[in-house]
Amino acid sequence: MSITDQIQKVRLEFQSELESVSSENDAVDEIRIKYLGRKGIVAHLFNKMSSVDKSERPQMGQRLNTLKADILEKIDGLQSSQSIIYQSDSKTDCTLPGDPLSIGTIHPITQVLEEIKGIFNRLGFSMAYYPEIDTDFYNFEALNIPLHHPARDMQDTFYITDKMLLRTHTSNTQIHYMENHEPPVRIIAPGRVYRNEAISVRSYCLFHQVEGLYVDTDVTFSELKGTLDYFARELFGQEMKTRFRPSYFPFTEPSAEMDVSCIFCKCKGCSICKHSGWLEILGCGMVDPEVYKSVKYDPDKWTGYAFGLGIERIAMLKYGVQDIRLFYSGDVRFLRQFR
Ligand code: PHE
Repeated sequence: MSITDQIQKVRLEFQSELESVSSENDAVDEIRIKYLGRKGIVAHLFNKMSSVDKSERPQMGQRLNTLKADILEKIDGLQSSQSIIYQSDSKTDCTLPGDPLSIGTIHPITQVLEEIKGIFNRLGFSMAYYPEIDTDFYNFEALNIPLHHPARDMQDTFYITDKMLLRTHTSNTQIHYMENHEPPVRIIAPGRVYRNEAISVRSYCLFHQVEGLYVDTDVTFSELKGTLDYFARELFGQEMKTRFRPSYFPFTEPSAEMDVSCIFCKCKGCSICKHSGWLEILGCGMVDPEVYKSVKYDPDKWTGYAFGLGIERIAMLKYGVQDIRLFYSGDVRFLRQFR
């Protein structure tokens, strides 16, 4: 075989070998040694130059050099593209199985809130959100709690300035919403509220409430009872019973508190319901005409009801949590139980 034919043969062999090689560096190195090593195929061809006719030698030499350069270029090209992959982290063994991803859980307060939202959305209530930092006017005055009114003592307030405060309840949303919308109104407004209370198993300096507000013509107290009774049975189960006790809030008249039958002892009496068989879950009442006046609704035309419930309280009853502080501790051993 002439040396020209041999060069051509080597070129073809190299080509097919390179194509079949996998992307592993070792295999490419082997080919480099096989073709370009000191005792490799190309060196062997150079050795054969002595047997070539003198006149043909320069041309043959050139062909061989071209072959060598082409092989070198291809191998370098392959290795540099691999080194990009390997360089990023030479210690990584891509064949090892990955670390399992630990997926977080949805916080129990969020879970209960989502459930409450779902129930009221199905009843046609829409959502409203208003500020946690608010003025005295929205948190108290417009809700028929003037300065020095004894009802201010019902809720210990964090004041920021004389007029600014952290809202003590979500009832401030009633005023904001009615100021900005014409009746009829049918909303729930969830959010955080703050109270300057001693921290204990039962109370924390912040917690969550859901406010409800329904304003239309000829709204009755029995509609309020029916809606909240339906809500409680959707949330805790159909066998749940409710009762309404007269109460006092400056912004509703008449006012009531709703109890649900104790889910722990089924009304027989236990330490959680303080042997009464009942658990209080929310405050409610018919919107006081004074509140309509502060948002410029005609109190002779519009009637409605409002309610406010504490989410932590409901979550504690639903899941049997004994200490409210657990909701804020960020302890994953607690949170993982709510998958
Ligand atoms: N805002 C009251 C509270 O925090 C609850 C409430 C809301 C009562 C709406 C009546 C009507 O205790």
